[in-house]
Amino acid sequence: MTAAPPTVDLPLLPLGRGVDLRSERGVECPGDLPSASDPDLVARALAAKEALGDRVFVLGHHYQRDEVIRFADVTGDSFKLAREAAARPEAEYIVFCGVHFMAESADILTSPAQKVVLPDLAAGCSMADMARLPQVEDAWAALEAAGIAQDVVPVTYMNSSADIKAFCGRNGGAVCTSSNAEVALEWAFQQGQKVLFLPDQHLGRNTAVLKMGLSLDDCVVWDPHRPGGGLTEQQLRDATMILWKGHCSVHGRFSPDTVDDLRATIPGVQVLVHPECRHEVVLKADLVGSTEFIINTIEAAPAGSAWAVGTELNLVKRLAAEHPDKRIVFLDKTVCYCSTMNRIDLPHFVWAMENLVEGVVVNQIEVDPETEKWAKVALDRMLALPGKTSKD
Ligand code: 13P
Ligand code: SF4
Repeated sequence: MTAAPPTVDLPLLPLGRGVDLRSERGVECPGDLPSASDPDLVARALAAKEALGDRVFVLGHHYQRDEVIRFADVTGDSFKLAREAAARPEAEYIVFCGVHFMAESADILTSPAQKVVLPDLAAGCSMADMARLPQVEDAWAALEAAGIAQDVVPVTYMNSSADIKAFCGRNGGAVCTSSNAEVALEWAFQQGQKVLFLPDQHLGRNTAVLKMGLSLDDCVVWDPHRPGGGLTEQQLRDATMILWKGHCSVHGRFSPDTVDDLRATIPGVQVLVHPECRHEVVLKADLVGSTEFIINTIEAAPAGSAWAVGTELNLVKRLAAEHPDKRIVFLDKTVCYCSTMNRIDLPHFVWAMENLVEGVVVNQIEVDPETEKWAKVALDRMLALPGKTSKD
């Protein structure tokens, strides 16, 4: 066996502190934020939006707070928002109410003249931080050493930094989202015999096993914190899916026990979860799909039906408020928001928008040209996939 290449162990930064350009977490918001208790915040946001008119387009991910999502011109899951960003060449500014990797993707998919703004640069994603480019390059070197790199197609979940997307673009791979992971994997297995799936092991495993007919034994997990990923060359050669050891800290909380408890207490409850949940949770659910799929399913459900929803709490609470004729509960006993999605609040939104009115672009997200070139290759491969998504 060839000696395993060294792994790179990068310290995680506390939220919003310090500067680490390789981190999704970014830096603290510069400038004077309006006070959160300012009673005029809503009026100020409305006035800024009106002043900017068609020059600004506001995108809002479904996990955003109510106070922010109300100002979005379009709401969506990460796939829909990527498409919407690409379809707005007339907007001078794209204000992205979501997280850093989404704003990076919007920058890649928009023209150089358009400016993408993330109202709080500390809105990163802990899952995206779990795959760093040097770590992924180490893993690829191990695949080369095992003599299989030429058979492996790298596929990265949208929830990854632009340099990981660029890595996939350079190495014949693509991006996927939770809306199109199945069709992306079908495409990948037409290009090669194996897939390296980054960074969410759960989306990769759930899609491979529940949609593609692979078995759990076909999957191995590459742990970037262990020498050689914690795998032998033989295990790498035998595997069909090489899953990266990353996960979402929000969706990772849902447990199969809670599914059992809710089924015992709410008669006829249907369990609807996001594919970032652990495999054992998804196995116990009735339906699994992206945030857009979850919304469409609840909208189409009959009055009187009962749902336990396993996704971010802002969205679940909004669904419950919008559908008082249905019983909608959160699939966890404790409150759990995505802390980084929640970084975008009304003061940051007002601050970003008012600066744009003054002609000052704050918190612009700009991907460097070389990374952008290859990340766009991977994103364009995703956007060119046949239109089958988990909504169909
Ligand atoms: P989707 O929007 O693709 O469903 O992803 C959920 C998520 O975790 C976004 O960060
Ligand atoms: Fe990242 Fe999970 Fe938050 Fe999405 S919900 S931004 S995957 S931590």
